[in-house]
Amino acid sequence: MDFSTFSRTRKSIRGFTNDPLPMSVVDQIIDTAKWAPSSFNSQTWKIHAVAGEALDKIRQGNTNNTMAGVPVKREFAYIEEYKEIHRRNQIDVAIQLFEVMDIAREDKEKRMEWMLRGFRQFDAPVSLILTYDKYLEPAAMTHFACGSLAYGITLAAWELGVGCIINGQGIQQPDVVREYAGIPDDEVIMITIAMGYPDYDFPANSVRSRRAENADFVRYVGFDED
Ligand SMILES: Cc1cc2nc3c(=O)[nH]c(=O)nc-3n(C[C@H](O)[C@H](O)[C@H](O)COP(=O)(O)O)c2cc1C
Repeated sequence: MDFSTFSRTRKSIRGFTNDPLPMSVVDQIIDTAKWAPSSFNSQTWKIHAVAGEALDKIRQGNTNNTMAGVPVKREFAYIEEYKEIHRRNQIDVAIQLFEVMDIAREDKEKRMEWMLRGFRQFDAPVSLILTYDKYLEPAAMTHFACGSLAYGITLAAWELGVGCIINGQGIQQPDVVREYAGIPDDEVIMITIAMGYPDYDFPANSVRSRRAENADFVRYVGFDED
């Protein structure tokens, strides 16, 4: 498949089959993805690949904390109160997902279950936890590198028929993640990527998210008209 088709057909996967994802396949995905660019080729990323009992403990700990009302947090500064077109994009995909998952706006129970699904790493067999060394803070270039690696991972996985969801919710109880994944204190937890073989009967996996028109976010300067 050519890249422009490949890029347009990749999508986030939020429901997985029970098939395990072998370590060799995860390693192959990482081996491809690590060719992602980073500032000065510094490769300031780390990956903790977690499966089995350790991942189940993370799911359980995240669920327990959420049910107990432990406030969510992240280990780096961020804003997630999006405005204007960004907010419209956010709402747009949420509507698509809730529609296929049959989650009504006022249905608190189903909304909670959907949120918990994210905290359970979407029940995927594998979760990659991307971290970086604390000494890099404030780590804008490293955040960029981790994003570049994360997209590389989703593409390399997709090529092998493996689905991914980059999952911000997965690190919102970072103390749980740190404890059960055995992440050292001198690393910052950036993001998780849940991965496994896609369950194409899972409704959310049918969603094709949309993109803004180029004119909404691109300016061309100094070009001759075609
Ligand atoms: C940094 C980041 C965090 C994300 N966190 C979540 C999340 O917590 N829950 C979720 O369902 N999707 C999450 N996603 C996936 C986005 O919702 C998804 O990429 C977007 O809607 C575009 O859809 P697509 O990946 O299918 O093209 C996240 C994506 C990124 C890049």
